[in-house]
Amino acid sequence: MSDKTSSVHYIDYLDLDKILDAQNPLSTENNNEAHEEMLFIIIHQTYELWFKQIIHEITSIMDLFKKEQIDEDNVGLIVGRIGRVNKILEVLVKQLDILETMTSLDFLEFRNYLSPASGFQSHQFRKIEVMLGLKINNRHQFGGCPYHSQFEGDKKKEIIEIEESVSLFDLVEKWLERIPFLEMKDFNFIEKYQSAVWDMVSSEIDDINNSSLLNENDKKIRVKMIEENRKYFENVFNKENHLNSIKEGTTKLSYKATMSALLINLYRDQPILHLPYRFLRELVEMDHKIASWRFRHVQMVEKMLGQKIGTGGSSGQGYLKKTVDQHRLFEDIANIATLMISRAYLPELPSAIKDELGYNFTNKK
Ligand code: HEM
Repeated sequence: MSDKTSSVHYIDYLDLDKILDAQNPLSTENNNEAHEEMLFIIIHQTYELWFKQIIHEITSIMDLFKKEQIDEDNVGLIVGRIGRVNKILEVLVKQLDILETMTSLDFLEFRNYLSPASGFQSHQFRKIEVMLGLKINNRHQFGGCPYHSQFEGDKKKEIIEIEESVSLFDLVEKWLERIPFLEMKDFNFIEKYQSAVWDMVSSEIDDINNSSLLNENDKKIRVKMIEENRKYFENVFNKENHLNSIKEGTTKLSYKATMSALLINLYRDQPILHLPYRFLRELVEMDHKIASWRFRHVQMVEKMLGQKIGTGGSSGQGYLKKTVDQHRLFEDIANIATLMISRAYLPELPSAIKDELGYNFTNKK
């Protein structure tokens, strides 16, 4: 224990007078107190406090990614911090259960007082979306209004500046592109992987054709399915096709970054790739948790408002439902699972490379 005594008091350190003096129900001010309005305010305030913490963590993660070289210690730190963001997001999803102890009838007691205020105007929520990499053209917009039309002055300027700057998505993509493992000594990962995939597909077709349990028709159907799968892989190997899917907006992550993410996923058991693998998993978790929050929020809105329009002027649940899938950012990393092949087909790494992957690559000669 430290010998130093502190003169700071709990109340001052946490600035509690300010925080606890910040709940001002409008129904009370209008001499028509609605009991539930306090809950409504406190829930929103706790969300905003957690948003602040999320922004704090994402900013630090982005700063670490901006460094030219990210050594293993930093990857560990990044994994820890994004893991923390994910724990917070779990709480944010769960917190809606508390709000749902208020019924739609209770909500109507004070809803009119707060109009036209809306979650649409949460600057911190928009900041999180934009820092992660959600671009205006990929948003589901309502009524032709850009999302930042809800803000003015410095707040608007800040959000536009963040949108125009590098995002976490960009930084992760660049980091994956830089990872020096795609061509290791005489081991060309993409070529080896491609030939392993063809071996796997041929062996699956042989198994079907040699099966004594399937009739000729079943065999034909199954072989056709595997051929479709082969086409999917052919598409993946074709850089031109990948570029086209990026142009069409069905893919976001570059070809090189996708191949690195695939390598990390396939060779996750190698010590040096283990932390990068955990980081990619946490990214997908974060994407899923944000989507879960959006979905739970829609369910709650349905219970509270049914088909009523929102106080922010959107169609309400119709608008919010569209954002659940459309506003996802890291689904290309989740979709790497489609490209996984079983360990039995995984190309064996030459022992010289294995040795190298066993050490911290910042310590390499
Ligand atoms: C009774 C509870 C709630 C209702 C009925 C409700 C309703 C809505 C509606 C209808 C919208 C669409 C925009 C609009 O037209 O207003 C919206 C957006 C939003 N709400 Fe809520 N909300 C509730 C609670 C919350 C809470 C507790 C939060 C936590 C911060 C929140 C955060 C947001 C955010 C961030 C948006 C923008 C979402 C986007 O554009 O993707 N809402 N809300």
